[in-house]
Amino acid sequence: MPVAYDLRSPAFIADPFPTLAEMRRDDPVHWSDSLGGWVLTRHDDVRQGLRDKRLSSDRIRPFVDHMDGEDRALVDELGESLGHWAVFNDPPVHTRLRGLMNKAFTTRAIQGLRPNIQGIVDDLLDDVEAAGRMDVIRDFAYPLPATVIADMLGVPRRDVDNLKKWSDDLGTFVLTSRVNPDKYRLAAHGIREMTEYFQDLIAERERNPGGDVTSGLIEAHLEGDRLTADEMVSNCILLLFAGHETTTHLIGNGLYALLTHPDQLADLRENWQDQKLVQNAVEEILRWDGPSLAGVRVAGEDVEIRGKRIKKGERLFLFNAAAGRDPELFPDPDRFDIRRKEAGRHVNFGYGIHFCIGAPLARLEGEIALTTMMRRFDDWTMEQPKLDWSDSIIVRGVHALNVSFRPVKQAA
Ligand code: HEM
Repeated sequence: MPVAYDLRSPAFIADPFPTLAEMRRDDPVHWSDSLGGWVLTRHDDVRQGLRDKRLSSDRIRPFVDHMDGEDRALVDELGESLGHWAVFNDPPVHTRLRGLMNKAFTTRAIQGLRPNIQGIVDDLLDDVEAAGRMDVIRDFAYPLPATVIADMLGVPRRDVDNLKKWSDDLGTFVLTSRVNPDKYRLAAHGIREMTEYFQDLIAERERNPGGDVTSGLIEAHLEGDRLTADEMVSNCILLLFAGHETTTHLIGNGLYALLTHPDQLADLRENWQDQKLVQNAVEEILRWDGPSLAGVRVAGEDVEIRGKRIKKGERLFLFNAAAGRDPELFPDPDRFDIRRKEAGRHVNFGYGIHFCIGAPLARLEGEIALTTMMRRFDDWTMEQPKLDWSDSIIVRGVHALNVSFRPVKQAA
């Protein structure tokens, strides 16, 4: 008799790992009534699933087609824009969009951002230093990536708060599968505002090109091919959207992991000058409790995995978080160890053709954030009595993380 796991329960959201471990051991390709789809939990299966051409990333169109009633018009509107997002497309459309985006979003361009990111990190920490306490999410991990991606896109800083609000409204649809009666209206409003915003920004950059990613997307061409106006707007929104909430949670989950593992925190505090160690700590955070809980695919044809028959049109939830704790790959997988040698083999950035385009940026932001927090502050103490985890099976992170610390006296 298969066990019925409730993957929407608050207990699962708060700590999914014991349930995922049980599923990975007993039923690695599990039909979940609570999610209405298949749940894959083994590292090997998740990785294979992410590169399986028979599993489609186009999960927006089938959803739109199934909608009826009064929400249909709102969902149509959402589908119109999200349908151009690279992440929701399969080849050949994905290949073309990704190829053009890669032209504007290069690893070299990202490495050049180091001084800018350091400046933003220092400004944010300056603001909380005197108080000796902060809500890591509100005061640091939330504004940091939003400001970084806005700067990259050439969005003036004064507009960041508005864009963030619209992007969060869109998140109610893209990231939360739970029923929220207002979510379609909120999300459609968010995307409408962002579409208008980026249409104006793109028109401005067409007149006055700059060195930003938006200008890069306008310029980008491959064998005479270019992004259409709608594709440009949609993928600017994708970059803005994908570029911040995940990175917020990398920093939030990371600090939480360190606070609950004082030996690891002490090691990092003592050795923050060791860049390789900090980089490995970022990988271990991604493996142990990364922001990406699961990726979603839709079977494009009937598929068999470990003897289970997955029918065309059924959804699959590939749990990146479960893959990161697979004992086949990671010895003693529940142990959080910033010196773990194989930490980087996690799949929290996905795998295959949709591998996160922002991974080098997120890694850089994580490294600079951790190094600077460890360098500037000591005596880190958690002051958050109860954690409120994001109500999503796609992303994982907390809404608030209050901490106190003591500023370290800098040598003159
Ligand atoms: C720690 C932070 C991040 C995590 C854990 C993360 C995770 C992921 C994952 C798992 C995917 C694959 C989705 C799939 O296969 O369906 C993905 C794709 C993507 N990510 Fe990230 N991401 C992060 C940060 C960023 C940043 C900073 C940006 C951009 C500024 C970004 C932009 C994108 C884009 C555009 C895609 C779609 C790529 C494609 O479809 O080809 N991400 N990300």
